[in-house]
Amino acid sequence: MVKTAMFSLLYPLLLSALVLNCQCQERKLHVVYMGGRPQEDVSVASKHHAILHKVLGSASSAKDSLVYSYGRSFNGFAAKLTNEEASRISEMEGVISVNLNRVHKLHTTRSWDFLNLTTNKLGAPQESDVIIGLLDTGVWPEHPSFNDTGFGPPPAKWKGTCTTANFTCNNKIIGSRYYNSENAYYDGDIPSARDTEGHGTHTASTASGVEVEAEYFGLAKGVARGGVPRSRIAVYKVCWGYGCSSADILKAFDDAIADGVDIISVSLGSDWPSDYFDDPIAIGSFHALRNGILTSSSAGNSGPFPVTVSNYAPWTLTVAASTIDRKFVARMELGNGQIFTGITINTFDLNGTSYPLIWGGDAANYTAGSSPDIARFCLTGAMSSDIVAGKIVFCEALWDGSGILMANGVGTIMADPLVVNPDDAFSWPLPATLISPEDGRSVLEYIKGSDDALKDAMAPTVVSFSSRGPSPITPDILKPDITAPGVDILAGWSPVSPSSVYYADTRSTLFNIISGTSMSCPHASGAAAFVKAVHPNWSPAAIKSALMTTATIMDPRKNQDLEFAYGSGQINPVAARDPGLVFDASEADYITFLCGQGYNTSMLRLVTGDNSTCTNSLPIPGRAWGLNYPSFSLYVEDGQTIMGTFFRTVTNVGPANSTYTASLYMPGFISATVEPSVLTFSDVGETKTFIVNVTGPAISQQPIVSGAITWTDSTHVVRTPLVVYNYIPGAPYNLDDSEESSFSMTKEKPTFKGSSLYHKSGIMGQRKAHPQFFN
Ligand SMILES: *[C@@H]1O[C@H](CO)[C@@H](O)[C@H](O)[C@H]1NC(C)=O
Ligand SMILES: *[C@@H]1O[C@H](CO)[C@@H](O)[C@H](O)[C@H]1NC(C)=O
Ligand SMILES: *[C@@H]1O[C@H](CO)[C@@H](O)[C@H](O)[C@H]1NC(C)=O
Ligand SMILES: *[C@@H]1O[C@H](CO)[C@@H](O)[C@H](O)[C@H]1NC(C)=O
Ligand SMILES: *[C@@H]1O[C@H](CO)[C@@H](O)[C@H](O)[C@H]1NC(C)=O
Ligand SMILES: *[C@@H]1O[C@H](CO)[C@@H](O)[C@H](O)[C@H]1NC(C)=O
Ligand SMILES: *[C@@H]1O[C@H](CO)[C@@H](O)[C@H](O)[C@H]1NC(C)=O
Ligand SMILES: *[C@@H]1O[C@H](CO)[C@@H](O)[C@H](O)[C@H]1NC(C)=O
Ligand SMILES: *[C@@H]1O[C@H](CO)[C@@H](O)[C@H](O)[C@H]1NC(C)=O
Repeated sequence: MVKTAMFSLLYPLLLSALVLNCQCQERKLHVVYMGGRPQEDVSVASKHHAILHKVLGSASSAKDSLVYSYGRSFNGFAAKLTNEEASRISEMEGVISVNLNRVHKLHTTRSWDFLNLTTNKLGAPQESDVIIGLLDTGVWPEHPSFNDTGFGPPPAKWKGTCTTANFTCNNKIIGSRYYNSENAYYDGDIPSARDTEGHGTHTASTASGVEVEAEYFGLAKGVARGGVPRSRIAVYKVCWGYGCSSADILKAFDDAIADGVDIISVSLGSDWPSDYFDDPIAIGSFHALRNGILTSSSAGNSGPFPVTVSNYAPWTLTVAASTIDRKFVARMELGNGQIFTGITINTFDLNGTSYPLIWGGDAANYTAGSSPDIARFCLTGAMSSDIVAGKIVFCEALWDGSGILMANGVGTIMADPLVVNPDDAFSWPLPATLISPEDGRSVLEYIKGSDDALKDAMAPTVVSFSSRGPSPITPDILKPDITAPGVDILAGWSPVSPSSVYYADTRSTLFNIISGTSMSCPHASGAAAFVKAVHPNWSPAAIKSALMTTATIMDPRKNQDLEFAYGSGQINPVAARDPGLVFDASEADYITFLCGQGYNTSMLRLVTGDNSTCTNSLPIPGRAWGLNYPSFSLYVEDGQTIMGTFFRTVTNVGPANSTYTASLYMPGFISATVEPSVLTFSDVGETKTFIVNVTGPAISQQPIVSGAITWTDSTHVVRTPLVVYNYIPGAPYNLDDSEESSFSMTKEKPTFKGSSLYHKSGIMGQRKAHPQFFN
C-alpha cells in the first residue's frame, strides 16, 4: 500500500520567511541534488564546475560560486546562486532538485532558550562579577565569543594572571594559565593557553560566550551565546594532544581557587573509578568547595553501561548529557498527520512536498535475487528502481542509504531493532531519518493501513553515550546529579583545529557542532554562574541543591536507567534562582560523610590540613544517609530487607513566613515516611530538619526503583528523587571490592569496606601511562 509522507526539517517557517525576503539578484547558497553517484569514473567536481561555468558564464565565477561538491556517496553540489541561476540549473538534465540552503538557527542559543534561560532573564547586577574557571584545552582568545566590548575591568576580587605566551587576555578572558608538566607536545600543541584543539573554546563559549553570529559551513547559522554572557572566563589549560595529567589538573585547581574564580567547570574525567582522594578532580573540587567554589563536572561518555559515571564526589555537580532540540533532527510527517522525529544531520530539504511512502519489503528486485525478506532492510542492490524511484522508503535496518539512492529513491526512514537509542547523528547521502524501533512499528502500521496513536516523542532523553550511575564508590549517593543539553551543541571552535566531525572537510571554522557530557557540563556551569550572580553568598552546596531540586522531571518511559541516567532531571536555571528551600552542606558535613566512609582522622587531617576529627557521631555508621544531599539513594544488600533512615536539613531561602508540605511517591511494595511532613518557617535562613524512613520486604536482584519526596508551599516545588536498588543489570563486575585500584596519591585507604561496592579494577581496563582525562 502506498501512502504519502511529508519529510522536512523542523523549521519550514524560517525557510519561507527567507524565501519571501529574497533579494532575487543576490547569490545565496543552494543545494543541487543530482541523485546517485555517477558510475563513470570522471571527477564529479569537474562536472559540477562545468554546470556552473555554463550557467554563470565564466570559469572564475563558477569557482567562486562552488562551495561543496558531493560525490562520494551521491551526486550533487552546493553553490551560491541567484534565483534565476538556480532555476536554470533545476531545468538541466540530471538535476533532481535545487533548494535554497536552509538556515538552521543557532544551537547554543537554542539550548539555553530550551532551558528557558532566555536573554530577558539575564541582567542581574552581579553577572559581570562571576568568574568561571575552565580546566580544558585553553581557548582561542581572539574568538568573537570572547569579545570584551562593553566589559569593565575584572572584578576586584580577581587575583589571577594572564600568561602571555601567544595569548592576550581582555576584559572577558581575564586570566590564562597553562600546565604541561610532562613537557609533551604533539598534534599541533603549542606551549600556550591558546586552544589548538577546539574543545576548550567550545566549552568556554557554551558557559559564558557573548552573543555572536555563528555560522557552520554556511549550513547552520544563527546567534550563539553562553549561559551568562556577562560573566568572565579564566582559562586553565590542562589538556594536550596526549590527554590531561593529574598533576596538571591539580595545579590548575590550586591556582583557580587562589585566583578567585566562582565556578569551576571540568569537562574531563578518568576512565576508571578511584577513591575520592586518589582522584585529582575529587581532590581539587573538595578544596574548591572549602573555598566556596562549586565544581561542575561531566559524568562521562561511557554509557549506556551502568556504573560508568565519573566525577561522582558528593561535593561536585555531576552532569549527564541529554538531547534538547530538533535542529538536526529530521521531522517526518505522515499523510495522516502523525509526526515522527528522527536523528540525522540532514542537509536536504524536501520543501514540504509529499512523496509516496512505501515499505522496503514491497520493493524487492527479484531479478537481482532479492526478496521481501532482504529488501525490507533496503540493502544495496536489493531494491527495484521501478518501485523505489521517487518514493520515500521505510527500511528495517540502519544502513548507509545506498540501496535507496541507487534505486533513485527520494529519501529513507530507518528503524533498527538493534539500535534502541538512535541518538547519535549521522550524515546520510539522501534525506534520511532514523527513528526508534517503536516508532518504526507505527510507521509500518501506517503503511499497512491502520492508525495507531503515537506517544509524544518530544521530551528530552539522556543520550546513550552519557555515563550511568550508580556511583562506583558510594552507592548511597545518587549519581549523576542532573542532566543538561549535550547533543549537537553549536559553539565556538579553534580555527586551527580540524573542523568537522560530520564532513570530511579540512577547512577552518570558528564554530562547530559537537556532542558529549563535555558539552552538557558547561551548561550546568553556566546555570550555576547564573544562580551565583543572583545569590553571591550562597554556598556551593546551596547552588547545587537549587539546581537539583528545581530540575525538570524527565520522562522515565524514555530513559530506562531512570535516575542513574538523569539524576534529578534536566537543569532549569531560571527556576533554580528561586528554589524556596535548599539542602545546604558545609565542609564539616562532607568530613562527617567521609568519616562514615571509613576515612579516619589522620587521613582527613592530611586532606584538610586542619584539626578535623571524625566524631563517630554518625547516626548510622557506614551509610551516607546523613549527608545533607538533595537526593536519596538506598542501596540494599542482596536478600536483605529494605530499611533506610535519612536525615536532612532544609534552609529557607524563600519568603520568611513559609509553610511547606511533603508529598511522597514510592512504588507499592516500598513504604516511606517523612517526619515531620509539614515544615513552617518564620525567617529567611531558618533551618528545619526532617527524617525519611524507607522500609520494605527483603529484595534480591532488584533494579532501580524510583520515587520522590517533594516539598511544596504555594509557589515553590522542592523535588528530591529517592531510589532503592540492589542490582544493576549489566554491571560489568560483581559486588566485590577486594581488589581496589592502586592508582594512588594518598598512602592510606579507607578501611570501611561496606560502602564501596563496585570498586574493582575490572572495569578500569589497562592502566595507561597517562590517564586519559577527556570526556
Ligand atoms: C519554560 O517556560 C514556559 C513558559 O514560561 C513553560 O511553559 C515551560 O514549561 C518552561 N520549560 C521549562 C523546561 O521549565
Ligand atoms: C567586538 O564587538 C564590537 C561590538 O559589537 C565590534 O565592533 C568589534 O568589531 C568586535 N571585535 C572583534 C575583534 O570581533
Ligand atoms: C601562536 O599560535 C598559532 C596557532 O597555533 C601559531 O600558528 C603561531 O605560530 C603561534 N605563535 C607563536 C609566536 O608561537
Ligand atoms: C519549494 O517551495 C517553494 C515555495 O513553496 C516553491 O516556490 C519552489 O518551487 C519549491 N521548489 C521545489 C524544488 O519544489
Ligand atoms: C534489478 O537488479 C538487476 C541486477 O542488479 C539490475 O540490472 C536491474 O536494473 C534491477 N532492476 C530494477 C528495476 O531496479
Ligand atoms: C590543632 O590543634 C592543636 C592542639 O589542639 C593546636 O596546637 C594547633 O594549632 C591546631 N592546628 C590547627 C591547624 O588548627
Ligand atoms: C511573619 O509572621 C509573623 C507572625 O505572624 C509576623 O510578625 C511577621 O511580620 C511576618 N514576617 C514577614 C516578613 O511577613
Ligand atoms: C525510622 O527508623 C528509625 C530507625 O530505623 C526508627 O527508630 C524510627 O522510629 C523510625 N521513624 C518512623 C517515623 O518510622
Ligand atoms: C587511618 O587509616 C589508615 C588506613 O586507612 C591506617 O593506616 C592508619 O593507621 C589509620 N590511622 C589511625 C589513627 O587510625
